[in-house]
Order: sequence, then structure tokens, then C-alpha cells
Amino acid sequence: MLDVQHLEVWYGPTEVLRDVSFTVPANAIIALLGGNGSGKTTVLNAVSGLVAPRAGTVRVAGEDATGAAPHSMVMRGVVQIPQGREVFADMTVQDNLEVGAAVQQNKRAIRQDIAEIYELFPALRARRSARAGVLSGGEQTQLAMARALMARPRLLLMDEPSVGLAPLVVETIIQTVRDLRARGLTILLVEQNVGVAAAVADHAHVLRDGVIAYSGPACDLIDNRDVLASYLGR
Ligand SMILES: Nc1ncnc2c1ncn2[C@@H]1O[C@H](COP(=O)(O)OP(=O)(O)OP(=O)(O)O)[C@@H](O)[C@H]1O
Ligand SMILES: [Mg+2]
Repeated sequence: MLDVQHLEVWYGPTEVLRDVSFTVPANAIIALLGGNGSGKTTVLNAVSGLVAPRAGTVRVAGEDATGAAPHSMVMRGVVQIPQGREVFADMTVQDNLEVGAAVQQNKRAIRQDIAEIYELFPALRARRSARAGVLSGGEQTQLAMARALMARPRLLLMDEPSVGLAPLVVETIIQTVRDLRARGLTILLVEQNVGVAAAVADHAHVLRDGVIAYSGPACDLIDNRDVLASYLGR
């Protein structure tokens, strides 16, 4: 589904990604881990077209998409959920979802998509008329996910969905990620929480010094003291 090869990204004079290669098979959940500032968000931004790589290739479903603009990536089914659950705080839950219908113009289809999303997130239906800004952290995370789903993605890029949430709320997010895969989605999940990555992902990559420094089955990470200590500072 996604094939990233030899990705290199600079911000001005600073090299952030040196040589990053990985693949995300269709219907897989792949975790990307790494310490603060290791370049996790930069990888997602380079895949979604928000940042232009200096070198390397990004292929989506077998087609070269390197350097494609964000809206073109959305058309290809690549949708990013930004770090920090950015919802439109002054808009209602329902209006946030309508804004997410980026590729869908047909009002009836939009209403159908929203109805389906409320099945997946009953908590959001209960709060459909509330201002997004008054939702709890967990509800805002759900809304950010739900808004991304309105664009009918095939590949979902998630940027630290669990951060700042209570353990019980994190459990519901984990369940949602599993539900999304069961519905056929492919997921690239950036996390700092190794427990979350181990619980949902098939495979994990750890980013350090601009390269993938470790790759392995996600469930092995929890017990891998070397990786936790040397790459993630745990
Ligand atoms: N727009 C930008 N201009 C200049 N430098 C940037 C920019 N965005 C990020 N950086 C720098 O690039 C490096 C990687 O940032 P990035 O946000 O990709 O890391 P991250 O792994 O997502 O970090 P975090 O865990 O804090 O979210 C950091 O040193 C950051 O300060
Ligand atoms: Mg980040």
C-alpha cells in the first residue's frame, strides 16, 4: 500500500531524515516509534505531501507519488490525522465531520458517511451539537479520527493518538484502531507509547538519527530492553 524508499528531508540547513525506508502492506498496522524530535511527524508529513523530500521515493498502491500535493494524496486515499488532535474548537462535532468530507460533494452521501461514523463512535453522536472545544481529550481524539474517515481513506496516518489520555481512554483508542483495520483500512501509526504500538501494530520501526535504527515485530518491543533504552530512552 505504501512504499517509502531512501527518504531524505531537510529543514533549511538541518537534515532531519537521512535515509528512511519502510513499507506498509495493505491492511497492516505499522508503528513508527522514536524519541522527541526524531522525525516521526516529518515522515508522516513527507508521505502526506505537507513536506517535500529532498531525495527518496513515496509510492502509494504501486504508483509514484513523491512530492505530490496534500490534496492529491487525499485523492489517492492517504489521510493524515495531525498531532495534538486539532479539531475546529468553535465548530460543532457535526460541522467538524462535514468539513472532513473533502472528496465527497454529494450531500446525501455525506449524511450517510456521518451516520456510519456515528455507529463507530457513539460518544460523538451523543455530542453532535456540542462545540468541539468542550469535548474531553478522548472525545477530541475520536473526532479527529472521525473527521479523517470522512475523507474515505485507504491509508490512515495517525500521529500519537494516545498522548495525554488516561489509560482507560487509551484502551478505547486501541479498540478503534483495531476496528478500523477490520473495516479494511491500512494504518501507519506514530506513537511514543510502546504499549500502544505493541498492542495494535504488526510491525514496528524505530527512528533515530534520521534512519530506521530498529525494525521488528511490534509485540517484541515491550521486552526488548536494548531497544527501549538505546533508542527510546526508557
Ligand atoms: N517546520 C520545521 N522547520 C524547522 N525544523 C523543524 C520543522 N518541523 C520540525 N523540525 C525539527 O525537525 C526535527 C524532527 O521533528 P518532528 O516533528 O518530525 O519530530 P517528532 O519525532 O515528530 O517529534 P515529537 O515526538 O516531539 O512529535 C526536530 O528537531 C524539529 O525541531
Ligand atoms: Mg511529532
